[in-house]
Amino acid sequence: MIDMARVSADTPGAAHRVFLNSAGSSLPPTPVLDTVIAHLRREAEIGGYEALDERAADLEAGYGVFAELLGCRPDQVAFTDSATRSWLAAFEAVPLTAGDRILVGELEYGGNAIPLLMRARAVGASVEVVPSDGDGSFAPDALAAMLDERVKVVSVVQVPTNGGVVAADVRRISDAAHSVGALVLLDACQAVGQLAVDAEALDVDVLTGTGRKWLRGPRGTGFLVVRDRAKAVLRPKLADLQGGTWTGAESYALRDDARVYELWENDTATRLGLIAAARYLLELGVEAVEEAVTRRGAHLRSALAEVDGVTVHDLGTRKCGLVTFSVDGAEAGEVQAALAARDVAVSITRRSSTLYDMDRRGLTELVRASPHYFVGEAQLDAAVGVVAEVAAGARGRAARA
Ligand SMILES: Cc1ncc(COP(=O)(O)O)c(C=O)c1O
Repeated sequence: MIDMARVSADTPGAAHRVFLNSAGSSLPPTPVLDTVIAHLRREAEIGGYEALDERAADLEAGYGVFAELLGCRPDQVAFTDSATRSWLAAFEAVPLTAGDRILVGELEYGGNAIPLLMRARAVGASVEVVPSDGDGSFAPDALAAMLDERVKVVSVVQVPTNGGVVAADVRRISDAAHSVGALVLLDACQAVGQLAVDAEALDVDVLTGTGRKWLRGPRGTGFLVVRDRAKAVLRPKLADLQGGTWTGAESYALRDDARVYELWENDTATRLGLIAAARYLLELGVEAVEEAVTRRGAHLRSALAEVDGVTVHDLGTRKCGLVTFSVDGAEAGEVQAALAARDVAVSITRRSSTLYDMDRRGLTELVRASPHYFVGEAQLDAAVGVVAEVAAGARGRAARA
């Protein structure tokens, strides 16, 4: 059970607004905010390098914190500045040649799809879409039918940016991909912080995520896990004095752990904040958070589905804390603005973010509401009430037209 008194006290921003945008950028709890601000003050007092030295042990411990959170070893963890930066670092390091195949799910994220398509075009590889199963989830059986030894990468989004679904059986996807020697890249950006994610249990080779969403960390932070199978295959593309050592006029040596993917310069304050966010989550308990977020998602989804004129567009059997919907006769922007005027924060998700899926379903934009554990049921019901008003207004307009 989540200690609501504690999390409410730690989340003052949630007291006077219904914050339903943790899939965008959540409200960091006070311990995270305090960590970041205290370090910025310390940098101003004694200098950035000196302040870094003071926190060196805490930063080092952070790799262990993420290893515990994500089910891997500390040497398999790297810190970056976003999920995309993590994903690019790993994907660009996969050796690819003409004729290679990359398989992706129908719920692939646009920010991954663009570099996938760019690189495939550059090397003469192909990007192919694995059809989802009947309920809209990544289908291990369809994947298995498409695999051959030319497949080098299988890209899986554990929780897509919209659609509410959780990839059903990542372990089976990994087992199938590994049977032909392909690497599995798991985009866990929308999963970590709302669901328990264990890289070893899922047997994925690369796992990427971000700080600011469900983890409630600062903006501009991300993390990368590179497990041993990937480490043996990947050839890092960008390294500096963090990832390597300049050993001679024509030689260098790269680090042997995942930190080869980090760059030397980074924002120490936000990195400390990211580690504080992971510690906060571990203290609350990952399973308790998963239960609370999933329950809030289910409550919101079923309440919205009962509103006349509202369609919920979520997929899958296993659903999470992301809820996507539309209102008949009202554009997503109108719904968002009406909610914002009543202190309810939601976001809009557009075709370009999940183009394969949106095109397949004939959608162009959706309203996305993503409640974290700090949002109470009464707040969810209040938000649904505002959506119902917007829907009634749109119906009235249609009747008058
Ligand atoms: C599924 C998914 N993957 C990756 C990203 C990219 O994360 P970041 O903006 O931290 O690079 C997002 C962002 O919304 C996302 O929803």
